Amino acid sequence: MKALVLAGGAGTRLRPITYTSAKQLVPVANKPILFYGLEQLRDAGITDVVIVVGDTHAEIEAAVGDGTALGIDVAYVRQDQPLGLAHALLTAEAALGDDDLVMFLGDNLIEGGITEVVRRFTTDRPAAQLLLKQVDDPTRFGVAVLDADGAVQRLVEKPPEPPSDLALVGVYLFTPAIFDAARAITPSWRGELEITDAIQQLVDEGHRVTASTVDGWWLDTGKKDELLEANRTVLAGLTRRIDGEVDAGSDVVGDVVIEAGASLINSSVRGPAVIGANTVLDEVHVGPFTSIADDCHLERCELEYSVVMEGCHIRDVPRLEGSLLGREVSVSRTQRRPAAHRLLLGDHSQVEIAGGA
Ligand code: G1P
Repeated sequence: MKALVLAGGAGTRLRPITYTSAKQLVPVANKPILFYGLEQLRDAGITDVVIVVGDTHAEIEAAVGDGTALGIDVAYVRQDQPLGLAHALLTAEAALGDDDLVMFLGDNLIEGGITEVVRRFTTDRPAAQLLLKQVDDPTRFGVAVLDADGAVQRLVEKPPEPPSDLALVGVYLFTPAIFDAARAITPSWRGELEITDAIQQLVDEGHRVTASTVDGWWLDTGKKDELLEANRTVLAGLTRRIDGEVDAGSDVVGDVVIEAGASLINSSVRGPAVIGANTVLDEVHVGPFTSIADDCHLERCELEYSVVMEGCHIRDVPRLEGSLLGREVSVSRTQRRPAAHRLLLGDHSQVEIAGGA
């Protein structure tokens, strides 16, 4: 069995972060989202991995390499245009050969891994096996309708009037029958070859398509608030580990990870939170559900429920909350006159300034 991991796509909903960074590499609890999926594939015994990449291929290839560090063997296939998930699958057909496959969307995060799901597929071997999750807003996803026996009867991609509240999670198991099905469909209203339509094609041709529901969480990391929520959920499972330096004036409460080379000076961290390697906190308070990546420098500030990527500088800012900072961002307070906010923001940046009616 091989894995097909889809790591193309533009990530428009996470701009400006995704102008310079692939959405699959945005960190959750200081680890790129994509790595969670790759580790779950490895843990399920699937080490032959084909990653489909698009415009952000250089960054994905730099982060994952040949996969050795993650215990997998990675080959890359380039998708020239984002023409849909079924198109990505067809692009990778030659690399996948005629093995069964797990298709894993590189921006999906699911709890508990896929070992059990893979085991069931290998024993039962339907043409396709899907993962479903009940959601509040099914219009944003592919949606499945099951028959009385729990077999998949109908699938619709992002229906304005959803026939059920069971969304398709981005982990699919297929026999090679999926390739002919993907060839038989035409582009959807959004101009893409939808994997949802290819699976419907399997159903229409009389193939057996089964489904099971995800018990644990399934996280969508498409937008800032969803990403912060994903970060909160993953941090909630953290185990305390202090490898960095904590001076006598600092205190670290609860499930906190402080990586080697990080140092806390007169600072407090209340977990769950993670502080990256070589990051310095000097008179800083870090509240729960915060991830600060490597090589950051924070002085005299308070930060909570936030994700801060590598190399950021934050100085003399009384309180930041619900914030997502990209790499090497600088936020500071100044005494310079005129007393005003001075901003240098990329396209699609968002700033909320507190206070005053
Ligand atoms: C894709 C699929 C959709 C599925 C979702 C899961 O949506 O088309 O059926 O529910 O992934 O993340 P997209 O990411 O293209 O909006």
